[in-house]
Amino acid sequence: MGADWLTDAVVYEIYPQSFADSDGDGIGDLRGVIDRLDHLEWLGVDAIWFNPCFESPFADAGYDVSDYLRIAPRYGTNDDLVELVTKARERGIRVLLDLVVGHTSTAHAWFVEELDAPGPHPDGDRYVWCDDPPQRDTSGDLPGTAAWVRSPGPRPGWYLKNFYDAQPALNFGWGRLPEDEPWRDAVDAPGPLRNRAVLREILGFWLDKGVAGFRVDMAFSLVKDDEGHVRTVGLWRDLREWLDVTYPDAVLVPEGQEPRTDGSFAFHADFFLVIMSAHATLFDNGYAGRLPFQEWRPPFFDAEGRGSTATFLGEWARAKAADPARPVLLATADHDYDRLRCGPRGPEQLGTALTFLLTWPSVPSLYYGDEIGMRYLPGLPDVEGAICNPAYNRAGCRTPMQWDDGPNAGFSTADPERLYLPVDPAPDRPTVAAQREDPTSTLHLVRDLVAVRRATPALGARADVRVVHAGYPLTYVRGGTHLVVLNPRRDAATVEVAEAAGALSLLSKGVALVDGTLPAATVEIDGFGYGVFELALR
Ligand code: BGC
Repeated sequence: MGADWLTDAVVYEIYPQSFADSDGDGIGDLRGVIDRLDHLEWLGVDAIWFNPCFESPFADAGYDVSDYLRIAPRYGTNDDLVELVTKARERGIRVLLDLVVGHTSTAHAWFVEELDAPGPHPDGDRYVWCDDPPQRDTSGDLPGTAAWVRSPGPRPGWYLKNFYDAQPALNFGWGRLPEDEPWRDAVDAPGPLRNRAVLREILGFWLDKGVAGFRVDMAFSLVKDDEGHVRTVGLWRDLREWLDVTYPDAVLVPEGQEPRTDGSFAFHADFFLVIMSAHATLFDNGYAGRLPFQEWRPPFFDAEGRGSTATFLGEWARAKAADPARPVLLATADHDYDRLRCGPRGPEQLGTALTFLLTWPSVPSLYYGDEIGMRYLPGLPDVEGAICNPAYNRAGCRTPMQWDDGPNAGFSTADPERLYLPVDPAPDRPTVAAQREDPTSTLHLVRDLVAVRRATPALGARADVRVVHAGYPLTYVRGGTHLVVLNPRRDAATVEVAEAAGALSLLSKGVALVDGTLPAATVEIDGFGYGVFELALR
């Protein structure tokens, strides 16, 4: 089958800290996930994507790795991961890990060794060091979050960080090599080559344990000052060639979209980021409001019906133009930005958004808890680097999974004070247990959508899409055989659809097909209504 499985997958992202705590220490763990595999199987997902669960001081929630080959003790052991991978696989669920190789933690033995040394490593530096950072504007040379940090010594000079200060950038070399910055290594200098070699070791180590692939954090930040990301993509392409031969079923999914270069694609998919325009113009999971220099525009999934699908559809068409078969992941939300249910968006609005995400020809990624409509909680404390700046708090989308009405919503038996983050205190907070009992719940809708998608190839990522109406109600035909109608606004809407007469509802709420001039029908759809139909064969 090869790595093709990703195209047909529904992915489920688990923030390991907050999913299920089996040992009562207030933090989620792998045993907790094993104990909850029933839920994932019942929901029908095909792959779990875990945020980093490797050893780490957790200055950035585990995106600061101190040992790539060891599961963080608070989550369990490497054997627990193998057990999880095996047990998940028995239920048809694969496990993807998060590969964070743009940087390590300052606590990684590699960094400690270079920090303790008086000068460059004899085999080439794994990190980027310089005596004095350039005095010119370097913003064009570096990814947005990279900057120079004064070495706390004994190593003199400065090191380059990739994100927080505690995340020194690994040295994969530089694209431009100006003479007045002799400390810049070429991509094939000894230090960068050491780092490239270790990538295979890390991947092979976990793939040998049955892992199905990796989501790659900051995938295009590796080579610095790399115009068009050409060398970075080249590096990944090398790795991909090796992967295709050695682990042909494994997938690499980047954080974001792969830059278009002249060669073949290095990654198996693109990921439309929750923070970037395409996703934000649909759902605005908190992003647009945080960028003071960007004018806020209401997203399309807006109760007042003020948004537009134009940006999304344009980006979608561009992504597909390069290779129509290449999967594009689209998430409900993720660990970096607000949930689908954030700001003024209420639970009654989730049906249209989820129906879209599970019937569009993207590969859906469900963020844990979005299947029951968990809320983004504003104003939470800064836990493990959750607060990037005063306007940007990631803690609110990382709160404990709400399983039932037991203590701590069934997440943990710990004293509430010891929880990783507080549980949503709302008396009517959604839970898995309550929604399992209610066939009209968001949880049942997600499960039904996953099942309909699986049973209907025309609704999956391989079939084409034809947008019939790009405004309200958003209306599209999938694979020439299925119609999807979505009205994310509060007010009712209608649309005339040429082939809709006699269509059979597979799943719908608030939609009526009124016969027009056959074979057309007028689709009348209530506010927040959604419908998936099989077109009548003629
Ligand atoms: C991850 C973040 C992390 C950052 C630095 C991101 O893109 O998704 O959670 O803080 O990379 O590793």
